[in-house]
Amino acid sequence: MFKKIDEACAKPVVWSAYTADVLWTDSHIAKQMLAFHLNPELSLASRTAEFIGASVDWLISEFNLSAESKTLDFGCGPGLYTQRLKSKGVGTVVGLDFSQNSLEHAREQAKESKLDIEYHYGNYLEYSDARKFDLITLVMCDLCALNPEQRAMLLGKFKSLLASNGSIALDVYTTTRFAAQGESRNLEKNAMGGFWSAEEYWCLQSNFIYEPEMVTLDKYVIFEDSREWTVYNWLQHFDLEMLASELEPHGLEIKAKYSDLRGNPFEDGNEMALVISHK
Ligand SMILES: C[S@@+](CC[C@H](N)C(=O)[O-])C[C@H]1O[C@@H](n2cnc3c(N)ncnc32)[C@H](O)[C@@H]1O
Repeated sequence: MFKKIDEACAKPVVWSAYTADVLWTDSHIAKQMLAFHLNPELSLASRTAEFIGASVDWLISEFNLSAESKTLDFGCGPGLYTQRLKSKGVGTVVGLDFSQNSLEHAREQAKESKLDIEYHYGNYLEYSDARKFDLITLVMCDLCALNPEQRAMLLGKFKSLLASNGSIALDVYTTTRFAAQGESRNLEKNAMGGFWSAEEYWCLQSNFIYEPEMVTLDKYVIFEDSREWTVYNWLQHFDLEMLASELEPHGLEIKAKYSDLRGNPFEDGNEMALVISHK
């Protein structure tokens, strides 16, 4: 028992495990996540409906999107951005996601509204397309959940998919947010209202910080009667210099910075939004 608890509480080597797919593809968890996405009041899996509406309006005006434009949304989830972009007249709208559940919802919504949106199921790190896009989006700080190798792979992909005058719009967590994080541990039965399983379980949650890397980890060990499994939720925090240095090898650079993807002026906070383009 001592060994088991000790292992469950151990601090892993930074970025030593990747389980993001469990969060988005396990059928019980995926249902919970979809419910979070679709709650217009909650800013957990997606932002609030009001935020998304304002964000889409800003993206359309900032990047002059029209019936001739091509947009590509990485991790589109249930299509909250793609649906709005297409209904506002954007020409080609493509969404990528590896959550079957979310994509099914996105496809149904598009069909109901008679909107011709292209959805592709799969890992976006493996996506390829001969077309070049005017706007590539990665919203809800999803870049932060990827390890350095995955980020490099994704940025290389962005570079090859971006039209010559195209832009990438994304948001990230900041080092200001990182400075407020600490380490803690919590044991709770059926934690988060049964989020992790339809069966009864104990959840041992440990939060870790990795100082030099500016990474946090929420590690969840779930003990059920019949199985025991672990979910690692890593988050990279960025400052502008750090992001710029990751973009540089791919011939990309930061063109503008904002507080969020509604185009609010840049100020120090937990998140920042960046417009990135070819160097
Ligand atoms: C935090 S949610 C944000 C969803 C959407 N962008 C929004 O704001 O409503 C992250 C989404 O990215 C998807 N995702 C994460 N990693 C992915 C990957 N490697 N390939 C494809 N989809 C991925 C998840 O399935 C999930 O739908």
